[in-house]
Amino acid sequence: MSFVPDLLKGKRAIVTGGATGIGSHIVRKLGQLGANVGIISRRQESLQTAVKSFAADDNLEVHYQVGDVRKETVIQAAVASLADKMGGLDIMVCNAAGNFICPTENLSANGWRTVIDIDLNGTFHSCKAALPYLKEATDGGRIISISTSQANTGWPTAAHAGAAKAGIQNLMQSLAVEWGPYGIRANWITPGPIEGTEGVERLITAQGRTDEVLEKIPLGHFGNGEDIANAVVYLASTTGRYVSGTELAVDGAARWGRI
Ligand code: COA
Repeated sequence: MSFVPDLLKGKRAIVTGGATGIGSHIVRKLGQLGANVGIISRRQESLQTAVKSFAADDNLEVHYQVGDVRKETVIQAAVASLADKMGGLDIMVCNAAGNFICPTENLSANGWRTVIDIDLNGTFHSCKAALPYLKEATDGGRIISISTSQANTGWPTAAHAGAAKAGIQNLMQSLAVEWGPYGIRANWITPGPIEGTEGVERLITAQGRTDEVLEKIPLGHFGNGEDIANAVVYLASTTGRYVSGTELAVDGAARWGRI
């Protein structure tokens, strides 16, 4: 399964939360297709480990900046620094997220606020920081946010994350309209359960829900990181040039099985 080599040659991309999980698959795929990629994450150590493995496994030189998406000015500076290193920015992937399982009746106001802050406010900060550069992108800037199937159905025991992701989806629709005249496309991907991610391990495997969840996925198996990365490439490349303000579900039809 592959795209035309060099499909993204000359493009510059930033992936928040790109050091681990789905984000790292997106980084590899964009880099393999010729894009220059920068990543932002909270922890210096995981950034350094990731950058080493991108170089060792895929011969990719990935730039990085430490930054917590909750902090507007920090993200502004991190995006500016990466964009300056790469000579601009064409693709902003808002992937950084935080989550934990907690029944809503036990969830503290700070727990709620923390996840809204990382997921929703973090996406807002990332988009705002990217805007001046995306306006200058040669054939149109692109914003791709990583949401989740449960944003459309409610997320019992993770209501904070469900609400944050639903907010992200609504934000993408607004930006598609407001920033469309700048040539910017804003879309989101709703991954279903993706094997090997911390999300599936903590939220499904560790809860002993694997068989129950698999039964509800019409295609009968979990997705993998490459499935999501391929969807990002479609939206990021000229193949998706008339697609904006919409969702691309990559979930094996899990949304209709209501996991
Ligand atoms: N259950 C209930 N409440 C929780 C919780 C849990 N499992 N984890 C955190 N909280 C609450 C804390 O109790 C705190 O609220 P309080 O002050 O009222 O007690 C609030 O959330 C903030 O927690 P804190 O640990 O200080 O926040 P943080 O900024 O250090 O980390 C996360 C927040 C979301 C990143 C952290 O929970 C985490 O590490 N999650 C796992 C990693 C992750 O999210 N990966 C993303 C892939 S799904």
